Amino acid sequence: MSYIVIGATGHLGTLTIDSLLDRGIAATDIVAAGRNADRLTALAERGVRTQRIDLDDPATLEGLFSPDDTVLLISGNEVGRRVAQHGNAIDAARSVGVKRIIYTSAPKADATALVLAPEHKATEELIAASGLPATILRNGWYTENYLQAAEQARQTGTLVTSVGDGKVASASRGDFAEAAAVALIDDTTTGNTYELSGDESWNQQELAAAISATIGRDVTVQNVTSEEHQRLLVAAGLDEGTAGFVVALDGNTRDGLLGVTNGELSTLIGRPTTPLIDGLRAAV
Ligand SMILES: NC(=O)c1ccc[n+]([C@@H]2O[C@H](COP(=O)([O-])OP(=O)(O)OC[C@H]3O[C@@H](n4cnc5c(N)ncnc54)[C@H](OP(=O)(O)O)[C@@H]3O)[C@@H](O)[C@H]2O)c1
Repeated sequence: MSYIVIGATGHLGTLTIDSLLDRGIAATDIVAAGRNADRLTALAERGVRTQRIDLDDPATLEGLFSPDDTVLLISGNEVGRRVAQHGNAIDAARSVGVKRIIYTSAPKADATALVLAPEHKATEELIAASGLPATILRNGWYTENYLQAAEQARQTGTLVTSVGDGKVASASRGDFAEAAAVALIDDTTTGNTYELSGDESWNQQELAAAISATIGRDVTVQNVTSEEHQRLLVAAGLDEGTAGFVVALDGNTRDGLLGVTNGELSTLIGRPTTPLIDGLRAAV
């Protein structure tokens, strides 16, 4: 029986393996599956088993799974290609009949206007159609997503945003990774869908204050319209599509789609989530 982590070479995957080891899982019971060979080598040095996979190439998934395995499928980072990629992993897991599959999804993936949600919704549907026992972790926003904003504020003293009064209930990646480890280990999570988010939600003024305390410089919020935000991002060098994506996400945040606090993450990991300022300090 093994714990298979797909996406082990990424930030969340590596932290999940840390968490599994911290919780006493033997390194030899963990399989780190990922694409980046150097990061797989670093993981192998910690004693876990590794397999190089490419989710675009089903042949690389052969031999990865056994019927006793519990599988964590961490959503990929190639937006627009993920449904097919996740589908390849789900098909391979279904053909072997693994014990359970866990997927890192997005808040209210089946019923939200969140611009990121459609690929997650489609993946959840593939998992349901596979008939495999499953646990869905609908991960909220990582505090680490604000690293770039902190770096810009360090240079300019300004936090440019079109979020308005929208709130965000972020938690650190380490919190979400711990939830993934718990879901892997604890079979009583089977069949559940968790809406995971930080215990506290915060607005842009509070984000600016936390960044200011972290970088040691006053930070002012510059709240702009979506149109102005788009213009500023393109002027700063982003292409229209990427700028549009950022602006759409800010619009989703303004609408409160990332601001839900329900305590499910802290309940699952058995401790409060990491406060915004602590998450920022650790990341910066
Ligand atoms: N909740 C949030 O705030 C938030 C923010 C950003 C992203 N996300 C989502 O959460 C996921 C995990 O976050 P993260 O920070 O750990 O992201 P990350 O560091 O970018 O890791 C992404 C992982 O996906 C793997 N991957 C992508 N395409 C693959 C392919 N074709 N075949 C095999 N592996 C593939 C990468 O493998 P290699 O590195 O080995 O290529 C890597 O292990 C992201 O991928 C994204 O879906 C959530």
